Amino acid sequence: MTTATTPFWLAGHEAHGEDTLEVTSPWDGRTVGTVGLPTAAQTEEAVAAAAAVAGEFAATPAHVRAAALDLVGRRLAERAEEFAGLITAESGKPLKWARVEVARCQSVFRWAADEARRFNGATGQRLDADPSGAGRLAITRRVPYGPVLGIAPFNFPLNLCAHKVAPALAAGAPIILKPAPATPLTALLLGELLAGTDLPAGAWSVLPVPNEAMPPLVQDPRLPIISFTGSVPVGWAIRDSVPRKRVTLELGGNGAAIVLADYSSDADLDWAAQRIATFSNYQGGQSCIAVQRVLADETVYDRLVPRVVAAVEALRLGDPADEATDVGPLISEDAARRVEGWVKEASEAGAKVLTGGVREGASYRPTVLEEVPGDAKVATEEVFGPVLLLSRVAGEEAAYAAANDSQFGLQAGVFTHDVQAAFRAHRALEVGGVIIGDVPSYRGDQMPYGGVKASGVGREGVAFAMEDYTYERVMVLTGLDL
Ligand code: SIN
Repeated sequence: MTTATTPFWLAGHEAHGEDTLEVTSPWDGRTVGTVGLPTAAQTEEAVAAAAAVAGEFAATPAHVRAAALDLVGRRLAERAEEFAGLITAESGKPLKWARVEVARCQSVFRWAADEARRFNGATGQRLDADPSGAGRLAITRRVPYGPVLGIAPFNFPLNLCAHKVAPALAAGAPIILKPAPATPLTALLLGELLAGTDLPAGAWSVLPVPNEAMPPLVQDPRLPIISFTGSVPVGWAIRDSVPRKRVTLELGGNGAAIVLADYSSDADLDWAAQRIATFSNYQGGQSCIAVQRVLADETVYDRLVPRVVAAVEALRLGDPADEATDVGPLISEDAARRVEGWVKEASEAGAKVLTGGVREGASYRPTVLEEVPGDAKVATEEVFGPVLLLSRVAGEEAAYAAANDSQFGLQAGVFTHDVQAAFRAHRALEVGGVIIGDVPSYRGDQMPYGGVKASGVGREGVAFAMEDYTYERVMVLTGLDL
């Protein structure tokens, strides 16, 4: 242990482990920080503390939990630049996007404070509609299942931690947060803000447990809820390994942006191209709802393509700490090599590379492909890199069918002005969210967010996660003069 090692948070207090993890910048490889790793005994201590405080914490008055969440949101606003800089340093996310993430995170804590105040209003139900229920009244409230194990990914090192932590605390459920190994520093800084609240010890821990040490934690019966955001195989393996737990999975996608025939003026196509280019490449395409596939009606396709290519080529690549940078590196050189390999496979099978297709270290140049064979990995898998596939479709139904022809179902975007088409899209698309007039990449942090098919199960969005973390407990009063 050295003074330069960032401590982790064990039951609300700073702790140092025996081993450490060096966190490096994907942009230039410099060391951003060194993090203490919890020992198995320390992890056990955190779980025991969470289990011990669960009853007391569930009973805390709503105003106490709401005040703590509000305080975190305010402190976050005061230290926004520090958080944004740290996100950029450890994840390579361009500063402009890191700032957006910090602002979103403030709203997550604000929503959570509001929901804590609203949540759990007990509801009453007369039972005397049936003779056996004469004089009886059911009162129902929601109760946490118990402590939550939150497992967060690297692509939103702050806000996807917030989507685990804030709803748990709002609902009165203790949480053990495990950040991604590549980006633990931001989560640990969030811990500093949580430590400034008067939440009970044990109500929260931030433990950078190495992935290989996770199975016992996943299996631990004292953690009945698991909320996981990350890769498809890991997510489903977790769920399959604990069939009796309540497991929320926010996994991958290969988001489609559909451009319908009515979206045809120059201004329409300029807007669609701009949004598609931006959101297939924001944070290097490392978002589950990045645009991966464009399905454009055959009547607008030829006018859209050059606009998309021009907008992609106008994106500025480079140092993520530079305010002008649009696209930084991927999380690692390995990730960029994988993307490079997939694009190569597609182009060898006949895909045309309209722009991009070049790797430099961990950076991959924004790439646009067309005529991609349907079985290429870039078409069937989640690329999680700055790669966009353009396809021509004949009409609305064909567009929805092509969008649904995917193992994933997270979000889709539909560029149309036709309100009837919007309803048809909403009905036809097999996804958790349909964004009309924009790309699939829009997420309001208060709305239900999650997927179907391989994309996951359960929903985030503060109030929806709170529902997932709690169950209805009924009390029946008898002998009442109703
Ligand atoms: C994700 O990649 O699943 C999160 C996207 C977002 O929160 O904007």
